[in-house]
Amino acid sequence: MSATYRFPRGFLWGAATSSHQVEGNNRWNDWWEFEQAGRLPYRSEDACRHFELYESDFDLAHSWGHNAHRLSVEWSRIEPAQGEFSTDALNHYVDVVAALKERHIEPVVTLHHFTNPAWFTRRGGWTRTDSIDLFRRYVEAVSSRMADRVRFWVTINEPTVYVTRAFLKGNWPPCQPGSWLRAGRALRNLCRAHTAAYATIHKHRPDAMVGFAHSTPYVVALDPGRRLDRFAARLRDFVHNDLCFRLLGQTPRRVLDFIGINYYVRQLVRWQLGGTAMLVGKEHKASNPSQSRKFSSLGWEVYPDGLREVLTRFAAFGVPLMITENGISTSDEALRTEFIAAHIRALALAMRDGVRVIGYFYWTMFDNFEWTEGPTARFGLAAVDPATKLRGPRPAAGLFESICRSNEIQLNEPHRGTTRQ
Ligand code: BGC
Repeated sequence: MSATYRFPRGFLWGAATSSHQVEGNNRWNDWWEFEQAGRLPYRSEDACRHFELYESDFDLAHSWGHNAHRLSVEWSRIEPAQGEFSTDALNHYVDVVAALKERHIEPVVTLHHFTNPAWFTRRGGWTRTDSIDLFRRYVEAVSSRMADRVRFWVTINEPTVYVTRAFLKGNWPPCQPGSWLRAGRALRNLCRAHTAAYATIHKHRPDAMVGFAHSTPYVVALDPGRRLDRFAARLRDFVHNDLCFRLLGQTPRRVLDFIGINYYVRQLVRWQLGGTAMLVGKEHKASNPSQSRKFSSLGWEVYPDGLREVLTRFAAFGVPLMITENGISTSDEALRTEFIAAHIRALALAMRDGVRVIGYFYWTMFDNFEWTEGPTARFGLAAVDPATKLRGPRPAAGLFESICRSNEIQLNEPHRGTTRQ
């Protein structure tokens, strides 16, 4: 067996971003209203000013050897009031995609990344059945303008995470904790909206590759010998990993050209008396130094083998996979570099065993507005100076560049890539 794995020709390498987290001044969406109402200690404000700085950001991605880039278009800019579509906003995103193409960077466009137009949320958002048609109309507006330039589309980012945060935990807009019924309805509508968007995009581009980005934690029982832990882990795993596919119908393959895998973490689950932990358990986050487990600054366990596990599992659907997100928030730059190399090695091992994967996107290109954590989480390949907005590449950007450029990775030793500050 060769110690080097070579990725297939044309494999997509890049970083992922989302509109609200990087653009700045997204005044027409529900997150902006939530922030302005003072519900968080942070506000996105002008974020990374990527709305203006996208060309120099894409120069940077090009200089890093990225041949692809995942971004999201902001529904609330395109349709700031119900039924009123902004030609300026559509033109902007056409320019953004053109700027990527000029740099030989393949765009992967997400249509919904957690934020909704404020008018949409005010009228009931995803809990209403007509949300599907409203989303379809927006997708029609975007794909009729952009499908000639964009082949890869992510319809919806992490439907289960959105629904959990918005309607169960209730700490994201519309902030309705414990609303199980609404959560169920919203998830069903999001899945149906995916199906509607799939057909709409294919109408404009028959060879389009359309999928959704799925949050895929690797869920296991904390104590496999304990029946209640096993029960809670199984149920949590079903809700996070399987439910969306059940809602997509008997043959998800008919509405998925690829599955987007967002992988960050292994969750060790313990059953607990009371609350939702009686059903889906409680995540056991405490680090155990004797096992030398490593954690991100958000307390997420670094577990590269879990990526191999989830890839092998989702390959069973028979469509290609795309790693639409994988990354770490940390201020330990050696850990970030090690994280990337170890996860890409796990990806290579899965592919060597026959799993079809078409791309890998690191989350994220530069530090951004991390939802309820605001600017405190640091996932970036580059830091961003809060005053000047200058991007300061981190060592991991150099390691990732060496993998993108060589299109290969050493399997049996820590990757020795070039690093730069
Ligand atoms: C989301 C991103 C987020 C990242 C890190 C993913 O669930 O798609 O928007 O920033 O995780 O938390």
